[in-house]
Amino acid sequence: MTIFLIGMPGSGKTTIGKMLSEKLDLPYFDTDEIISRMEGKAIPEIFETLGESYFRQQEADLISNWKLHHAVISTGGGLPCYHDLMNILLSKGHVIWLKVSAATLSERILSEPNQRPLFFNKTKDESIKTIKKMLADRKDFYQQANIKVLNDGNTEDVVKKIIVKLYSM
Ligand code: S3P
Repeated sequence: MTIFLIGMPGSGKTTIGKMLSEKLDLPYFDTDEIISRMEGKAIPEIFETLGESYFRQQEADLISNWKLHHAVISTGGGLPCYHDLMNILLSKGHVIWLKVSAATLSERILSEPNQRPLFFNKTKDESIKTIKKMLADRKDFYQQANIKVLNDGNTEDVVKKIIVKLYSM
């Protein structure tokens, strides 16, 4: 079983992905981490020195060439929205969208301001506006996921819900 987790930054892809991989006894991968290792740079540094379009191309190359079955893979928040990658994800595995409200996302993202280059140098109000706009722009992509789960609190419950849905597909 190949499982791709998609969703906004701060939607809990890493936490849920790692829990899911343990429960299903599958290896866990994170596209940001793979790209960061390949480039020898942290994601913010890739954005700064090589630019966002370079990063998007790295995401596209990684997913288009993805051959490993039986894994849980967390994807960068923007990944499904560029280079037709949502369709490619759907052709390669089960895609799960972790849905979170804009208010909760804002809280989580603002508590880690140095992690996410798309929010650098923004005031709180600007960040909230950016989150709302990103959510609106990305919804049509995310909505195509095979499984949609609200991740608003209890992570154990969310993981259980995902497993039940996976086995009833
Ligand atoms: C991005 C989200 C980040 C990372 C990059 C761009 C985005 O990943 O891929 O900073 O466009 O939403 P996370 O969703 O894991 O924060």
